[in-house]
Amino acid sequence: MNEDLYKQVLGSFPSGVTVVTAYDDDGAVTGLTASAFSALSMDPALVLVCPNYSSDSYPVLREASRFAINILAADQTGPCFAFAKKGEAKTAAIADVAVTRSEFGTPLIDGAVATIECSLWKEYEGGDHAILIGKMEQANVNEARSPMVYCRGKMADWATLTD
Ligand SMILES: Cc1cc2nc3c(=O)[nH]c(=O)nc-3n(C[C@H](O)[C@H](O)[C@H](O)COP(=O)(O)O)c2cc1C
Repeated sequence: MNEDLYKQVLGSFPSGVTVVTAYDDDGAVTGLTASAFSALSMDPALVLVCPNYSSDSYPVLREASRFAINILAADQTGPCFAFAKKGEAKTAAIADVAVTRSEFGTPLIDGAVATIECSLWKEYEGGDHAILIGKMEQANVNEARSPMVYCRGKMADWATLTD
């Protein structure tokens, strides 16, 4: 399959944007911006997220065995781009992102539309991406916040789409 066509086709499917976060062994916030997120099962309550095997966050999420999926609000392009960086540039950028440690022990991004805290339930291989299935342990939704919508490389505000 032609890579450009693959990206064009899949990029035409609108999604939201999440940041998947966990604490590393030293207690530092780690994570990556990910649109490859989906609902999976109601009973048990499962969701899935797909980090590239080349992601530096992937081994941390795996090792931590617990992670948070932060569903971003339309005004959260800052966290969106910060967690899409790598290495030292990411460390510097995410220092500006306000995060609160939950009782469950994951970093929750302040102002997210919703957060889902997961224990790692199962993992599968999906070509060049891992498929991490998380069991929902805690969840929170803030109806007052408007979700970010992502399509064809652009971000939009869900609130502008409803009327
Ligand atoms: C809107 C958006 C969606 C993304 N979705 C994914 C995704 O689903 N899976 C993935 O592995 N990377 C995704 N990325 C890219 C990662 O965020 C990026 O490669 C990041 O640098 C990985 O950081 P890490 O290596 O520190 O984990 C996305 C980036 C953006 C901006």
